[in-house]
Amino acid sequence: MIRGYDEVDPDQGFATRTSSGSGPLTGKTAIVGVCGGIAAYKVPEVIRGLMKHGLRVYVIMTRAATRFITPLTFRTVSRNPVFVRMFEEPKLWDVEHIALAERADLFLVVPATADIIGKVASGIADDYLSTTIMACGAPVIFAPAMNSRMWENPIVQANVSRLEDLGYRFIGPERGELACGTEGTGRLASPEVIVDYCVGLLSKVLRDSPAESDFEGVRILVTAGPTREYIDPVRFISNASSGKTGYEIAKAARRRGAQVVLISGPTALRPPEGVEFIGIKTADEMFSRVMEHFPEAHVVIKTAAVVDFTPENPRPSKVKKGDPPESWSVVKLKKTPDILASLGAMKGDRILVGFAAETENVIENALRKVVDKNLDFVVANDVSTPGLGFGSDQNAVSLVYRDQTVETLPVMAKRDLADVILDRVKRLLESRNYDRPE
Ligand SMILES: Cc1cc2nc3c(=O)[nH]c(=O)nc-3n(C[C@H](O)[C@H](O)[C@H](O)COP(=O)(O)O)c2cc1C
Repeated sequence: MIRGYDEVDPDQGFATRTSSGSGPLTGKTAIVGVCGGIAAYKVPEVIRGLMKHGLRVYVIMTRAATRFITPLTFRTVSRNPVFVRMFEEPKLWDVEHIALAERADLFLVVPATADIIGKVASGIADDYLSTTIMACGAPVIFAPAMNSRMWENPIVQANVSRLEDLGYRFIGPERGELACGTEGTGRLASPEVIVDYCVGLLSKVLRDSPAESDFEGVRILVTAGPTREYIDPVRFISNASSGKTGYEIAKAARRRGAQVVLISGPTALRPPEGVEFIGIKTADEMFSRVMEHFPEAHVVIKTAAVVDFTPENPRPSKVKKGDPPESWSVVKLKKTPDILASLGAMKGDRILVGFAAETENVIENALRKVVDKNLDFVVANDVSTPGLGFGSDQNAVSLVYRDQTVETLPVMAKRDLADVILDRVKRLLESRNYDRPE
């Protein structure tokens, strides 16, 4: 019996409790969906963290989750009834699955199993949790945790991509030691990271919801992905840039009303809807296409990882193993055009944002680059951090401004980083009372 915690006898019905903390999110509601994974034991800490920010929390558990942790634990921590079975008597007169979905300002699924990810991606609604997710219009965040082979399984990855394309968000998983005794990617993001992410996202959603067309009339040129510098017709020098950040920026800018041109090197991504897409391969091609579109742009965001060196004398036909060593043993390189510096020199009133992917002295290099290349700010990115940066869906970056100030951002999904970068661009446009070029 938990009388004294809840104000009425749980067998007779529940009085709902609000949060234990206060803050700008006080009175907002988070639904926390708990699935059947070992990491379920970490969820009470996540709930406490959300409640400290003023959120009211309702927990929905899958039946598998109740094998790992009891509903009583969540009832006690959240101070609200816990929902498991869809067809039992409602615990609150106005709370059945649809009403719960409608109450949500945020929906967090933690730990998210391969099973729930697959179900939602396939439109299956066969229990309380999957049905409520399906009926929910609020942002839904999955915090997955599973064995690394499960996480890397192409079916799981395809489900994750599908959900991301549909606007669902993911935080983690991280790399580290897993419950099954192995090491790999599949570990639940830490409770603090999950809470910070949820609070940041909800604050942003609440702040931004009235102004979704804040880039109406602005023309943005985004570059993304790697380039390929050919040694012969089939071999090239390149890098591991996935293009994700640039594509997310292009998508977000489009969503916020901008006219977007995306110039991209080869990636595995689908060009975003509503964006003028130009595919290129080499740094030279990137240079000429950027120069073509630069004059009409108000804002240029250069996320592309253009390869700095290219073979001086690319071979006209494929070099064969049996060819004499002088035709393959030395590849002499020359510098590719410095696109960012060229744009900086002819920038005018435009906003120019560069990216710096470094493995050492990240901030020092960015502080220099922002001045040397005449940029407004540089997104500085330490690509040596495992699990972040190139290829990952998340990143932790610092924004380095012209006045040599540095804004360090927490780990966040590239999708959210895109909006933060656009927010900063907007601030610059506003602060300079920008006269847009005709
Ligand atoms: C001991 C144990 C640990 C498990 N841990 C996980 C896990 O971390 N992640 C996961 O996706 N599935 C895990 N599973 C498998 C899920 O419990 C199983 O797929 C279940 O059907 C998930 O149901 P749900 O998504 O409705 O909660 C585990 C199973 C067992 C027996």
